[in-house]
Amino acid sequence: MAEQILILDFGSQYTQLIARRVRELNVYCEIHPFNKIPEITSDIKGVILSGSPCSVRDAGSPDLDLDRLRGKLPLLGVCYGAQLLANKYGGEVLPSEIREYGRANLDDIDLHYGLLKEMTHGSQVWMSHGDTIKSLPGGFDVIASTASVKVAAFKVQGEETYGIQFHPEVTHSLEGKNLLRNFVVHICGCAQDWTSDTFIDTTIAQLKAKIGNDNVVMGLSGGVDSSVAATLIHRAIGKNLYCVFVDNGLLRKNEYEEVLESYKTLGLNVIGVDAKQRFYDALAGLSDPEAKRKAIGRAFIEVFDDEAHKIEGVKWLGQGTIYPDVIESVSVKGPSATIKSHHNVGGLPDFMKLSVVEPLNTLFKDEVREVGRALDIPETIIGRHPFPGPGLAIRILGDITAEKVKTLQEVDYIFIQGLKDSGLYNQVWQAGAILLPIQSVGVMGDERTYEKVVALRAVGSVDGMTADWIHLPYEFLGKMSNEIINRVKGVNRVVYDISSKPPATIEWE
Ligand code: XMP
Repeated sequence: MAEQILILDFGSQYTQLIARRVRELNVYCEIHPFNKIPEITSDIKGVILSGSPCSVRDAGSPDLDLDRLRGKLPLLGVCYGAQLLANKYGGEVLPSEIREYGRANLDDIDLHYGLLKEMTHGSQVWMSHGDTIKSLPGGFDVIASTASVKVAAFKVQGEETYGIQFHPEVTHSLEGKNLLRNFVVHICGCAQDWTSDTFIDTTIAQLKAKIGNDNVVMGLSGGVDSSVAATLIHRAIGKNLYCVFVDNGLLRKNEYEEVLESYKTLGLNVIGVDAKQRFYDALAGLSDPEAKRKAIGRAFIEVFDDEAHKIEGVKWLGQGTIYPDVIESVSVKGPSATIKSHHNVGGLPDFMKLSVVEPLNTLFKDEVREVGRALDIPETIIGRHPFPGPGLAIRILGDITAEKVKTLQEVDYIFIQGLKDSGLYNQVWQAGAILLPIQSVGVMGDERTYEKVVALRAVGSVDGMTADWIHLPYEFLGKMSNEIINRVKGVNRVVYDISSKPPATIEWE
């Protein structure tokens, strides 16, 4: 990997945001836990120390040997990182007497120093800290203050070491990106040449070198991550990549055929497996959500293993793992108990013993999308809403039958198509319909009905960790309700889910 910024994580909720802002500047960066610093090679052009929920005054708070870094390469401490620098070299960090949370404005900016170049006096920044730097060590100069925080930013004389007590990575710091640009570009000297195109070129070259003439097998889900990962591997090794796309009978209406077609158009060597019945059999009589998930997981492994065995000489398993799945999280409340699971390796399916190749494991989701677009993957795949692996099985409350799947597929199709036709699809992070295990009384024509209830759900989110229900227009919801009840046999009532996460979850099961 070419030049990069190293971000040392002390457990702040904003650490990933720092990484995303740096990458938006076309500079590659990686997050590592503060206590697992990688070897400082010449590729590392600078280091950012993140914030933390801890206090530097507490015994046992996250710490590191700053002498390893200070003066050797540019260093920027953000919040806790800045307080750690001040505290370690003889300054004083104390609990704040006044609230240092929320918006503040930078005064007395010393524009001589590269970090604050072209920042404007009065620039709004976001503060969020319980401690504050009362006095700086000798040789540390204040380079910006706010009305209530004297040491809003500092620089160490004679070296490119800086500290700031505000958060440049959050959008409330209006010139935060400017500051980060000053650091990574002007101070660290990064070239800003990390783009989707360079990522693609480098990754393809690495994949070629790693895989050579071996065969790779990979399961596709129709989602963004596996599709982009497969396309990259395909560009590197062509037909030696064998993709498997399984119809588990729990996909959306027409999804299997449409996605298979898109994959073929992309030139992927893809084997479609109709395993609907196998999944329905595995699910028969199961109502508990976790039992359903486990049954689906097991059935998938069996089907995939069968297919993988048909391919000669497979050495690698391709996966669409992305960066948030692999960032090692920092436990600030003491080391987390590691529960060792003792796998019986002999008992694992053969494909699980393969070496793993994960070309996207350094990218965030929005970066995966950008790479996908640069690879000319159709927007129908790139822009699609996330969809859970167990599919409609966790949106049919209770047990699963082929008939219930068919009913829900029709309802879901009307809703999703409606969102697309009304230009609402891209304003929603994820949407779907849920088939409830209750019946309600209705009247159609002169007849009393006693039929199923479906719920519609549409949420906005960034990463699925939290979500808000979307205020879809009443006219649109009314139209959906009419269409669903008129067109889907067995449904006589539609409700809209107005719960956010937390306390609800996105899926009902
Ligand atoms: P929840 O319901 O936990 O969902 O708020 C958060 C995100 O995860 C998806 N989800 C799943 N994805 N297997 C998956 O691959 C699962 O078992 C599963 N359960 C939830 C959900 O669709 C949402 O995007």
